Amino acid sequence: MNYRHAYHAGNFADVLKHLVLVQVLRHLGRKDKPFFVLDTHAGRGLYDLASVEAEKTGEYRAGIGRLLSLPEPLPPALAEYLAAVRPFLARNAYPGSPLLAQAHLRAGDRAHFAELHPEEHAALDIALGQDRRCKAERRDGYEALRATLPPKERRGLVLVDPPFEEKGEMERLGKALREGLRRFATGQYLLWYPIKARADVRLLHALVRSLEPKQALVAELTIFPEDTELRLNGTGMVIVNPPFGLREALADCLPLLARTLAREGAGGWKLEPLA
Ligand SMILES: C[S@@+](CC[C@H](N)C(=O)[O-])C[C@H]1O[C@@H](n2cnc3c(N)ncnc32)[C@H](O)[C@@H]1O
Repeated sequence: MNYRHAYHAGNFADVLKHLVLVQVLRHLGRKDKPFFVLDTHAGRGLYDLASVEAEKTGEYRAGIGRLLSLPEPLPPALAEYLAAVRPFLARNAYPGSPLLAQAHLRAGDRAHFAELHPEEHAALDIALGQDRRCKAERRDGYEALRATLPPKERRGLVLVDPPFEEKGEMERLGKALREGLRRFATGQYLLWYPIKARADVRLLHALVRSLEPKQALVAELTIFPEDTELRLNGTGMVIVNPPFGLREALADCLPLLARTLAREGAGGWKLEPLA
C-alpha cells in the first residue's frame, strides 16, 4: 500500500469526484428521512495544501486552484461544490470525501468510513473529531461494504474510490457493485475510475452493464490527449441509481471544467447513460 492521496488531493480527478459527491449528498438531504453514507476507501479526510506532498506535485493548483478564478455566475452544481470546499481552502487545506460527507450530514444521518492504511486511518479519526454520526474503521473497504449494507436507513450512497495500485481493481470494483446491489438495490453507488488504458474502462463499463442496474450514468473528464496509457489522462465516475436532475446538473458543468482544466489543449468530457 504505497498510495498516498496527499500527493493528489484537489486535483482534477478529485474535482469531478467531489462535484458528483456533493450533488448526491445534497439530494439525499432534501428528503426528511435519514440517510447513510459508506465511503469504502476514505483516505485521511483532510489534506494540508502546504504539505511537502501537495507541493511536490502541485496537482491541486491545476485542479481546484484553476476553478477559483472562474467568472460568476457559475453553473449551480459547480457553485455548490466550491461552497463546500471553500471553508477548507480558507485554511489552506482540501477536504477529502469523508469531510465533505460529514459536512452534509444532518442530526439523524450516519456515515461509515473504511481506510486500511494505519496512518491515514489515524489521521481520519482525528479529522472527523468527536462525531457520533461518523465511524472510521481500519478495515478493507470491500469487507466494510459487506458488513454495513443494507443500512437500516434504507437510503444512502456508497462511494468506492480505490487507489488502483494493484492489477484487477476494475474487476474488484465491478464485484463490489454486484455485492452492493444484491444487498442494497436502491442505494446510490458512485464508482471512481482512472482513464489510462481505454480497455480497462470498457471492462468496467461492461461489468456494470452486465449487472443490469435500473439506471447508470457515466461522467468523464479528460485533460490530456489519450496518446499514452502511462499517465492519468482523465477520470470517470459511474453513478448507479443517479438522483433525479444529476445528469442535467453535470451537463451544465462538464464543458466548463474540460475547458478550464485541460492541459495541452486536450480537454474533453462525456456524459451518457450506461444502458
Ligand atoms: C483515492 S484514496 C481515497 C480518497 C478519498 N475517497 C477522497 O475522495 O478524499 C484511496 C485510499 O484507499 C486506501 N486503501 C487502499 N486499499 C484499501 C482497502 N483495501 N480498503 C480500504 N482502503 C484502502 C488508501 O490508503 C487511500 O487512502
